[in-house]
Amino acid sequence: MTSNDRPCAVVILAAGQGTRMNSDLPKVLHRIAGAPLVVHAMEAAAALDPSRMIVVTGHGADKVEKAVTAHEEAAVCVRQTEQLGTGHAVLQAAPALDGFDGDVIVLYGDTPFISSDTLATMRAARAAHDIVMLGFEAKTPGRYGRLVMQGRDLSRIVEAKDATPEELAITFCNSGLMAADAATVMRLLAQVGNDNASGEYYLTDVPALARAEGLTATAIACDEAETLGVNSRAELAAAEALFQRRKRADVLAEGVTMTAPDTVFFAYDTWIGRDVVIEPNVVFGPGVTVENDATIRAFSHLEGCHLGARTTVGPYARLRPGAELGNDAKVGNFVEVKSAEIGEGAKVNHLSYIGDAAIGDGSNIGAGTITCNYDGVFKHRTTVGRNAFIGSNTMLVAPVSVGDGAMTGSGSVITSDVPAGDLALARAKQVNKTGLGARLMARLHAMKAEQKQGR
Ligand code: UD1
Ligand code: CA
Repeated sequence: MTSNDRPCAVVILAAGQGTRMNSDLPKVLHRIAGAPLVVHAMEAAAALDPSRMIVVTGHGADKVEKAVTAHEEAAVCVRQTEQLGTGHAVLQAAPALDGFDGDVIVLYGDTPFISSDTLATMRAARAAHDIVMLGFEAKTPGRYGRLVMQGRDLSRIVEAKDATPEELAITFCNSGLMAADAATVMRLLAQVGNDNASGEYYLTDVPALARAEGLTATAIACDEAETLGVNSRAELAAAEALFQRRKRADVLAEGVTMTAPDTVFFAYDTWIGRDVVIEPNVVFGPGVTVENDATIRAFSHLEGCHLGARTTVGPYARLRPGAELGNDAKVGNFVEVKSAEIGEGAKVNHLSYIGDAAIGDGSNIGAGTITCNYDGVFKHRTTVGRNAFIGSNTMLVAPVSVGDGAMTGSGSVITSDVPAGDLALARAKQVNKTGLGARLMARLHAMKAEQKQGR
């Protein structure tokens, strides 16, 4: 197969309602592995390095457009105000393709498993054919469009609703993906009518129209699992399970130890280095990167954070967005970290909240320490220097800083800065009343005895 160096543009169809989701949320915004379905499609397409990425929106367009541009600023959204069919949808991208000379690749916003390899194969196949469709051998062809082949040539596509019994017997089905010269597609789409069983403008009419002009069309095949679409909550759950199965297998193959992989949940973009150990029941939200030799102990929840090499996290740790752990740092059980850098070799071992903070290298944060970062309206920062020692149950009332090598006494409420090397004590001074403990206890026991007799 010859390669294809033509520029490429991607058009993602995401205007449909997804009635069967039974949801107020547009279908393509339902998430798999922490990312909306449409973002999965965008990620697959991004591997083609397209010069334009166009998303056709309709149902819930405002929300979909927000999610699309949040993921990729350069993406262009075009609206299809009425959902008149897949052909009509692609036609809406015409203005956004103005001045573009190259191939267009059409994909769907609700088929999250299309691989970048398959897209690349379609693009390469364009070197020999004018229109390339992506097909698959369907176990249950059902309502899929059927690809009517003559050898390697695609004669036409017939939608299930419009098919004869003979055509319905075909098992090679249309995934919906197409690769073709952009100007050619737009020209042919302008000829597509809606005189069919659905009264829609079918994108699938394009191959036959191309053939009628003497152009060539073909269909390449991919695995059915790649074309898996999401139309209902049950399919969403099945897609999530499939994603997790694959990701676990990938992560294991990349040299990560998981003692109970079926209980570990990854996000679409989780990155884990070699020789990392992940214990059972760990959940990764989006945006986590973990360097080599780290250990993530059981029941930890991580999101938007970075773990340096040889770090240890958990069990039962919560790392929220902006948690940055330096090499060899430790975050122990029942510790929450948010928007905070934990320096190299620093330790936050037990029952602490560290938010909007920077903890210097080698510092030790005692059990039950809290950065009091929120005054009810604003958030404030806490800074702890290098090799500092924060006593157990210290309240660090931000904005506040503790210098290098400084200490705070256990139970202190630190409201002003602690200079380097100082010890800050901010708690009531202890008073011992001689013998009062024993006398008080005796009185209480006597009271109880009186009460019992009175009954
Ligand atoms: C389509 C194909 C069918 C193929 C199947 C694979 C056509 C006519 N049929 O059928 O051959 O086997 O996909 O799943 O293309 N969309 C819009 N605007 C519209 C209509 C659809 O954006 O006006 C989007 C939908 O949001 C969805 C995609 O296009 O992401 C496919 O639409 P859908 O209605 O699911 O197509 P099918 O009838 O399943
Ligand atoms: Ca569909």
